[in-house]
Amino acid sequence: MLLSLCTWPEVEAYLKTSTGIIVPIGSTEQHGPTGLIGTDAICAEAIARGIGERTGAMVAPVIAVGMAAHHMAFAGSLTLRPSTLVAVIRDTVLSLAEHGFTRILFVNGHGGNIATVRAAFYEIHDELRTTRGAAAPDLRLKVVSWWENEAVGRLSRELFGDREGSHATPSEVAVTQHLFPDAIKPVPAALGTAPRGAFHDHRDFRRRFPDGRIGSDPSLARPEHGKRLMDAAVAAISEGWAEFLSEP
Ligand code: NI
Repeated sequence: MLLSLCTWPEVEAYLKTSTGIIVPIGSTEQHGPTGLIGTDAICAEAIARGIGERTGAMVAPVIAVGMAAHHMAFAGSLTLRPSTLVAVIRDTVLSLAEHGFTRILFVNGHGGNIATVRAAFYEIHDELRTTRGAAAPDLRLKVVSWWENEAVGRLSRELFGDREGSHATPSEVAVTQHLFPDAIKPVPAALGTAPRGAFHDHRDFRRRFPDGRIGSDPSLARPEHGKRLMDAAVAAISEGWAEFLSEP
């Protein structure tokens, strides 16, 4: 059930049956020479929708721009400052809470968001404690990244081994290929596996990883892999949904 395609009476009726909602959160940032700028938002949104179809959960619109400051040396990348993203998450959660949503699961498509999403949760709990005290709603906020479960990990190892890498991975590229086959990009000759390692700021990122990838070989991506990975992510995260709704 997509929030965007509901009317307000439908949302009101849903809230009588469940106070749970899924918020996809991604990023709009470079994904190497063959990956789409929208990869992280596309993956998070599609997987969240899949979970919604499977569980009946309401799915909010995707937060499509995330914290991607380290990608800014590559054209097309957009970023919110961490403090802006905290504010976006805070306002989104408190809007949902005002209507009675209390179980809010963020399905994340970008590793660089995680620290900020968690900081936002602490900010929200702290604000509610100090301003509402005992009257604060019992909000349960959780973030899961779509690749962080055993099934997806196993499948990506089986398909791509150590050429999965950590940015512009064949897994995420494959998911976008499955969803948008018309946007599949040609692979440059001798793409090879990208260097691995850490980085400091956006210039250092580009110096160490000149084509934008980290440790990955996205030439291995195929749309059919993307379908399997997406199905695995949807199944794994859906499994935890009922438990999230019922936990105290
Ligand atoms: Ni990504």
